[in-house]
Amino acid sequence: MDEQTRGEHNIEVEVDLDEFRVFPPSAEFASRANVGPEIYAEAAADPVAWWAEKARSLTWETPFTRTLEWDPPFATWFDDGTLNASVSCVDRHVAAGRGDTVAFHWVGEPEGDRVDITYTDLLERVSRAAHALESMGVASGDRVAVYMPMIPEAVVALLACARIGAVHSVTFGGFTAEALAERILDAGAEFVITADGGFKGGKAAALKPQVDEALLTCPAVRNVLVVRRTGADVEWVEGRDVWWHEIMETQPATHVPVAFPAEHPLFLMYTSGTTGKPKGILHTTGGYLTHVATTFEIGFDLKPDDVFWTAADIGWITGHSYIVYGPLANGVTQVLYEGTPDGGGRDRWWRIIEELGVTVLYTAPTVIRTFMKWGEQHPGGHDLRCLRILGSVGEPINPDAWVWYRSIIGGGRCPVVDTWWQTETGGWMVMPLPGLTASKPGAAMAAFPGISIDVVDDNGVSVANGHGGSLVITAPWPGMLRGIWGDPERYRQTYWSEFEGRYFPGDAAKRDEDGDIWLLGRVDDEMYVAGHRLSTAEIEGAIVGHPAVAEAAVVGVSDEETGQAVVAFVTLRQAGEVAQKHAAQLVEDIRAHVASVVTPAALPRQVILTPDLPKTRSGKIMRRLLRDVAEHRAMGDVTTLNDPGVVSMIDGLMVAHETDDS
Ligand code: PRX
Repeated sequence: MDEQTRGEHNIEVEVDLDEFRVFPPSAEFASRANVGPEIYAEAAADPVAWWAEKARSLTWETPFTRTLEWDPPFATWFDDGTLNASVSCVDRHVAAGRGDTVAFHWVGEPEGDRVDITYTDLLERVSRAAHALESMGVASGDRVAVYMPMIPEAVVALLACARIGAVHSVTFGGFTAEALAERILDAGAEFVITADGGFKGGKAAALKPQVDEALLTCPAVRNVLVVRRTGADVEWVEGRDVWWHEIMETQPATHVPVAFPAEHPLFLMYTSGTTGKPKGILHTTGGYLTHVATTFEIGFDLKPDDVFWTAADIGWITGHSYIVYGPLANGVTQVLYEGTPDGGGRDRWWRIIEELGVTVLYTAPTVIRTFMKWGEQHPGGHDLRCLRILGSVGEPINPDAWVWYRSIIGGGRCPVVDTWWQTETGGWMVMPLPGLTASKPGAAMAAFPGISIDVVDDNGVSVANGHGGSLVITAPWPGMLRGIWGDPERYRQTYWSEFEGRYFPGDAAKRDEDGDIWLLGRVDDEMYVAGHRLSTAEIEGAIVGHPAVAEAAVVGVSDEETGQAVVAFVTLRQAGEVAQKHAAQLVEDIRAHVASVVTPAALPRQVILTPDLPKTRSGKIMRRLLRDVAEHRAMGDVTTLNDPGVVSMIDGLMVAHETDDS
């Protein structure tokens, strides 16, 4: 039996996987695919022209005549064209007679809480919200901070900002008041859109109190627009706070959109950086919209009767690109779900999929691993034959999870599409195409058409097949970030200085013997915990903020459930005086402190108190060695260490710690 058929027939086998298996799309799936293999060569022949043709399928007020202007590392795309993003996402579908198409089947977490919103409804809501923002004084170019649950108003808020040229900056609702304040201040936002709270994990999780707390340090904020969702009591600041439902009622139901230049800023999205200060990633209008609309259409092999479900939060780039802009630009029907995967039972997702006939599900490996842990009986009790494609995003997907996803959720029929990209890239960059690619579990496979990537060694030289190195992007692309808000030098330094003329995303990658791409995780000091991108520096900053702590080094270590987990090595100010019984309490204090200052996702799995940390002679902490210790690997090179003995000492502490735990 050849490898491909072996793959097709082996779908029930979950254990003993070997990564050499290949899963081609079925003949039936491939025969219905929208694009053929020639797409790669067509795009590669002239990628700039290829993207320009894709861009023309958006609605332009003034058609562009220029495509790419490239003054490394600054690019503009379609810059003499003008358009309004909300028109391409909403108005044009209504104008084309598709106003009755459902844009969102919204599902609240409490059972039975459901609303269907058509494109006509969406247009009216966006129009009213655009008027409301204008009446509050929001103007083109103003930054609007958004801190919301997964409710339709979140989508409306983003599109209303886009409609009037305001720049939205969404902070994930799970972040603390402090994180929110930092982002509001950095963006210089004078307006905030939020809600009293949202339903998550079986309870009403409050949002407005965090906004109130954040705004104590953000005096420039003029208005807070508040959606009533949970009905919880909220503090109210007269003159500043405005109820969403009250202001919307008084606004006209139609709004005449104005077109903006293609390079007009569309949004900021903050990601953590290695120095701890979050970076405001800037995306603009025409290029971004072209990238997300095109990738969504081709990457998910879009069909007219599809029902898409990107099960991500709007507070992440995935929500921006593949709930709001990419799908809406294509006029499709989606599911928008408010709650957690076990909100209302561990089979909640599978019930939603069955009831609403979801055809494409897009989620993260950490969620898939949680479902694996919960057991097959939950999806097993539901008819999931409506599904046709399964997507994955956010971190490398381990082959076990990939195969489980394909066989248990996808019934062995659905191609798994692993999409590699980042907040900074705007949209998908490396992925299989579901109707074309014979995929390998765990591999992101190949660059999307029109995207140029390479894997290079430390000298920037392409590695041969079978070797690893750093992933780089070798040509500008339409959805690329246009900069870091307020810090062009950091933009140049972070992404364009490592390899001359090429974009360095910070990911390690391998090119296998067939030339297919596998992502291997971050090469820098960032980590991924349950889908959250965290920086070591941010967590270390929080730990050293604790009065008893002298120094801290944080590493991300692999964790079966969350992908990576935080392990912190901490030295104390008065180490000698901390008795054993206080040490346990202190460790708990430090853990709680991190969760409250950074985010609950950053809660360290382990805190190891140690008298010293491994450092180079110049004083730089060698996290690489700590990671080896934490993962019980053979120690890497220790020759640059100031005091080589310190690592074996920490290793001993780690073993003692784990023996205590068990
Ligand atoms: O390390 C890569 C990892 O997530 C990083 C980007 O994180 P963020 O900007 O938060 O965006 C997440 C959603 C796109 C990347 O640098 N990553 C994302 N998707 C994958 C991945 N790593 C491996 N495989 C993926 N499919």
